Amino acid sequence: MPLGPFKSAIALALQITFALTSPVPKPGPNADPLPLPPLIPSIPGVTDLLSGLVPPLPIVRVSTPPLKSPPFTASNLKPKKLGYFWTGPGNIAYVDFLAVYSLDDDTFGTFITLVDVPTSGNEPHHLNVAHDGKSLVGTGLLSLLKLQDVEYFFDITDPYRPKFRNSGQALLSSIGDEIVAKPEGGFFITHMGSLAGTSPGRLTEWDSKGKLIGEWPAAADLPGTANILKDQFSPHGLSIDFEKNIILTSDFVVPLSTLKPTLGIQKANTLRLWNLKERKIISTITIPNGGGIQDVKFIPGNPDSAAIATAVELGQVWIIYPLKYNSDGTQGVTKLLYDLGPRAKGVVAIYTDFSADGKFLYLSLTTANHIAVLDLSDLEHPVRLDDPNEIQPVIGVHSLRVTPDQKNLVALGYFVQEGDVGILNTPADYKVHYIDLLPNGSLHFNRTIPFQTEFANRGGGRPHFSVIADLTDPAHPKFNSY
Ligand SMILES: *[C@@H]1O[C@H](CO)[C@@H](O)[C@H](O)[C@H]1NC(C)=O
Ligand SMILES: *[C@@H]1O[C@H](CO)[C@@H](O)[C@H](O)[C@H]1NC(C)=O
Repeated sequence: MPLGPFKSAIALALQITFALTSPVPKPGPNADPLPLPPLIPSIPGVTDLLSGLVPPLPIVRVSTPPLKSPPFTASNLKPKKLGYFWTGPGNIAYVDFLAVYSLDDDTFGTFITLVDVPTSGNEPHHLNVAHDGKSLVGTGLLSLLKLQDVEYFFDITDPYRPKFRNSGQALLSSIGDEIVAKPEGGFFITHMGSLAGTSPGRLTEWDSKGKLIGEWPAAADLPGTANILKDQFSPHGLSIDFEKNIILTSDFVVPLSTLKPTLGIQKANTLRLWNLKERKIISTITIPNGGGIQDVKFIPGNPDSAAIATAVELGQVWIIYPLKYNSDGTQGVTKLLYDLGPRAKGVVAIYTDFSADGKFLYLSLTTANHIAVLDLSDLEHPVRLDDPNEIQPVIGVHSLRVTPDQKNLVALGYFVQEGDVGILNTPADYKVHYIDLLPNGSLHFNRTIPFQTEFANRGGGRPHFSVIADLTDPAHPKFNSY
């Protein structure tokens, strides 16, 4: 290689940036995301072998076509409760995939089927369901390493036999993160980085067919563009109050700074408050020394449209009042809601989910191997329900989903392992934890699905995110509430 790997990465990234930004029209409502072909065509018997020989390269990986999932037998069971798990294989020469499992009591943990996507090493990231319950979209965290697509859309018209439908990527941004379904179809998806993984990222918008509608703030939005150039814009968390016409995004880390060579992870202390209809930033909200604001969520049913945000370095939960004004006239007031204590500080990731009534907040403290529970019935006096010093049977827990019937919490024991190319490699148990929620909101660790053994034929499975379906009433399927 004539250039160092880092330089060649930058060169490639610039090449794509130019290829995608200069000659193409502005992304309008019908703009097709540009698919990037694999760099090496698939030659059976040759490229399969090549995949095994190429070591993981820093920053840019050689784009050999992925190996298909080993043969499997799908089950004809039709459970009422289903978990969809967006999963990367332990051996990243294999394709990334969506696995489907029964969550019914009598057939719990039965493998139903899986669907391959035509990429590998994308580090499957978040997953969510469309408003009509007919499709899913999963994002890829590290698609830029192999210049692959970021968004992967699945048809779940037959919930027991999902099909891969299409994939897409944005023109200015990558590193796909949180996903919120639009009531009229389609999705908003945060992209934590630019095409080269640097700041600024973008808030992207997709239609119901999986076509890119826009990347916000738009290039022509000068105040918005100035805003994201001024303070690190690495949107990870995303929550939308469609009735009050506001969006909150939270800035986490500069993705490229987690990849080698790095001088250390660049963490952000900010959130952006947006006008939904105009897709414009209203203000920047700062949590002093927050050290990566990974997650933000509006509290269900809160009359003030208050939201919570997690400040990872501080191990704290902050509350945001987006409709209130500060003394300097800026919109969006924030204050400390709860300090999760010494074990919660600097735990790399703190993700959350709420009970549907907004009463209980569940928080995963990734490297502390712990799930915390807050009773937020009285926001002036949050009550912690878990014992902060209890040793829980989870390792590296991250994604959380309260099931539609509010009876269980689905927690996944995996965050991110960038491997040799990066510095984010958090320990994991690679399990789906199906935790019973007791009437008082507390956790009862009971059942698991071990992806390490389930997918041992490809080096194990790394489930990053889930979507939970409840088909108890087949005419009205229910899904997780965010
Ligand atoms: C919640 O209920 C369980 C089972 O009844 C009990 O063991 C636990 O102590 C309760 N937790 C709290 C915080 O009250
Ligand atoms: C724990 O799991 C068993 C099935 O293995 C189930 O029958 C039981 O209800 C679960 N416990 C609770 C408290 O939900």
